[in-house]
Amino acid sequence: MDAQPRIGVVGATGAVGMVTLGLLAERGYENVRAFASARSAGSTVPFGDGSIAVEEATPEALGAGDVDLFFFSVGTSASRELVPIASAAGAVCIDKSSAYRLVDGYPLVVPEVNGNRALEALGRDRIVANPNCCTIPLTCVLKPLHEEAGLARVRVSTYQSVSGAGAQRMDALAHEASDGHDLVMDWTWEGDESDEEAKLRAETRKILELPDLPISATCVRVPVMVGHSEAVWIELERRLAPEEAAEILRDAPSVRVLDLPSFPTPAAAAGEDEVLVGRIRRDSASENGIALYLSSDNLRKGAALNAIQIAELLLEAVAARVA
Ligand SMILES: NC(=O)c1ccc[n+]([C@@H]2O[C@H](COP(=O)([O-])OP(=O)(O)OC[C@H]3O[C@@H](n4cnc5c(N)ncnc54)[C@H](OP(=O)(O)O)[C@@H]3O)[C@@H](O)[C@H]2O)c1
Repeated sequence: MDAQPRIGVVGATGAVGMVTLGLLAERGYENVRAFASARSAGSTVPFGDGSIAVEEATPEALGAGDVDLFFFSVGTSASRELVPIASAAGAVCIDKSSAYRLVDGYPLVVPEVNGNRALEALGRDRIVANPNCCTIPLTCVLKPLHEEAGLARVRVSTYQSVSGAGAQRMDALAHEASDGHDLVMDWTWEGDESDEEAKLRAETRKILELPDLPISATCVRVPVMVGHSEAVWIELERRLAPEEAAEILRDAPSVRVLDLPSFPTPAAAAGEDEVLVGRIRRDSASENGIALYLSSDNLRKGAALNAIQIAELLLEAVAARVA
């Protein structure tokens, strides 16, 4: 790959795809093509100061071998169909769906937490999975605390914005006269928990490489356009004062600690690259417990930005091998 890789954004008309295009333009990438379903083919999407035409994401187009790097944000079944075609044609594929996240052998990567794992993809089919939008900020916070004091148990309650469910849901909220009381739960049930709760647990364990870590999650949608929040109760092996935990998190990459009277909100996190963390305090219900609250932009760090950071790790590694 040269200094300007040939990039394809698949799902370019969607909530994550549009943010991916915006971030790529901001970062100076120029050689970018947009793909979506037949429904959008022929339309245009904004890119930098201009716009680019949307092409249909056919197997022929994605398998042509003229794109170095694809970002996929098309949903799990479309990813299962299209990612292998792009990969077989030699492209690096960063997939934001659930298709590969928990499949053995596929790296599931948050660059600040386990970025080294991304490079494993270069030795095989160049497919890297991007985690769920709540898993990413959670692991950014858990990793440094684990390194310092060992994680024993995690409980989390999420408050997830409608943009996490895609562009159509955003339109629905924008045009709803109500305050969101019609909000539909868009997850499926796996026994007595939602697939979102199961994903949050399984993905966190995989990324932190703690397969037995007890994690219990309750996930809900809230009538907020952008920005997911999480209340987190963390039980540690060793006691940490809240001030120590705050200091550790102040040094953590992609984390910004807010001190009272400031605290994280989705509005403050929207449009920001960092995970906002605050209300760091002792959990009075647990011996070595810390409680905290975080908010992050689910479309940026929770999806598009994290995927671009993974891609940049891979591009750097490829460039270093060539040099
Ligand atoms: N939203 C988030 O916060 C978030 C965070 C992390 C991961 N993700 C994941 O990212 C993926 C996309 O999410 P989103 O929120 O951007 O959804 P979205 O707003 O509904 O957008 C879906 C995009 O995929 C395209 N698409 C759908 N089926 C396709 C097909 N068969 N072939 C080609 N393109 C197809 C759509 O094109 P048309 O416009 O032509 O229909 C659209 O561009 C999902 O897997 C989601 O789980 C989302």
